[in-house]
Amino acid sequence: MTRYRDDAGAIRALVQEDRVHRDVYLSEELFRLEQERLFQRSWNYVGHESQVPEPGDYYTTEIAGQPLILVRQPDRNLRVLMNRCAHKGARLVCQVQGNTGKFFRCPYHAWAYKTDGALLAVPLKTGYEHTRMHACESGAGLVAPRMAVHRGFVFTCLSADGPEFSDYLGPVLTVLDSLADRSPMGELQIAGGCLRSVMRCNWKMYLENVNDSVHPVSTHESVSATARSVQDTQPADAPESIALQQLLPFGSGYDFFTRTGARIYPNGHSVLGIHASIHSGYDMPEEYRQALEAAHGAQRTAEILGFAPQNVVLFPSLALKGSPQTLRVIRPLGVDRTLVEVWALAPKGAPQVLLERTLTYNRLTFSPMSVVAHDDIHIFEGVQRSLAAQGNPWISLHREYRDGEQLEPEQEVSGTNELLMRNQFRAWATLMTADAKGASA
Ligand code: FES
Ligand SMILES: [Fe+2]
Repeated sequence: MTRYRDDAGAIRALVQEDRVHRDVYLSEELFRLEQERLFQRSWNYVGHESQVPEPGDYYTTEIAGQPLILVRQPDRNLRVLMNRCAHKGARLVCQVQGNTGKFFRCPYHAWAYKTDGALLAVPLKTGYEHTRMHACESGAGLVAPRMAVHRGFVFTCLSADGPEFSDYLGPVLTVLDSLADRSPMGELQIAGGCLRSVMRCNWKMYLENVNDSVHPVSTHESVSATARSVQDTQPADAPESIALQQLLPFGSGYDFFTRTGARIYPNGHSVLGIHASIHSGYDMPEEYRQALEAAHGAQRTAEILGFAPQNVVLFPSLALKGSPQTLRVIRPLGVDRTLVEVWALAPKGAPQVLLERTLTYNRLTFSPMSVVAHDDIHIFEGVQRSLAAQGNPWISLHREYRDGEQLEPEQEVSGTNELLMRNQFRAWATLMTADAKGASA
């Protein structure tokens, strides 16, 4: 049944000013439309340039069912290509990452492509003389979607007609600057491997939770209680471990989370924790502060170190933390299946303790041995099932709603205001109902 495909009004009716209909999490049709519309028309994170340091290095991923290759060119520029042979559609590379040398060679019939995607050679080439192959899509080589790089973060927009990169992300890009400037050299690199989890919930449920600072008090009660009981066993003069520094703040009360503050941006982006966050209390080595001041000046250093948001969302596929330097990539697999990738970022030239904090945090909160994420996943998977049951079809997003808020695309609010989620859903409805050129249908 196609209920929504040709009815923009029906889609918009799912996102009311202060609540959303459960179909946004449950409808298979809406999931397919999200793949076609929302993920085509938005700018999505592909990977980080440090994953492909040398010419010929590649990294593969998939966005909205589109297989992609991020590849370093001989001139060291980057390129995003569709991982789809122009002959009959075979995957050119099947590894997650590697080095392809000077060209890609298809494993099926050996068509070869330069690393910029141009068709280089085909076997039995005389067989193509006097045919139309070279004049059509097959002869044009690999499809290269639009790509943009900001401070090493690589994004793509799959649609040729979607918004410009700077219009779509705009002022929230300064967050990536703050993150990169935590390096005295102004550069980040991906450190180590990736923690991948597949959860049985809709992707938006995960992204909403990234902006939810009311739930830690209850959902993660056992985390802070356990951390406190461990702390009680320590001698009074023992230094606090990284793990305790990171887990104890989960027990901060509602007042604290409200005072942390938040900022929304157009197109669903947001920063949670503009004044403080559970990550604000980490001490910084003095030599690190001095190295930053030498590189960026005292004022900028104070800004960089003072910016420790709980979460930054670059809608719809990226969630970041500044300290620890953690990056989460959200990849919807199905209406009730979501892949979350967690990566560690190391600021180049910064002391090892920063990376240790990131690795400890990722292990404690996002790994298969996590003591935090499983609380959330348990809740998400229960919500996904319960919403399918009969009864109330609406999800409340009323907290601190005020009439007219949607007229201000950029604003600061309390850290517990559900405006951050309302902002995501307003962006969702716009992208789902816009025509190819971005005008709202
Ligand atoms: S499908 Fe790639 S060469 Fe035939
Ligand atoms: Fe949580």
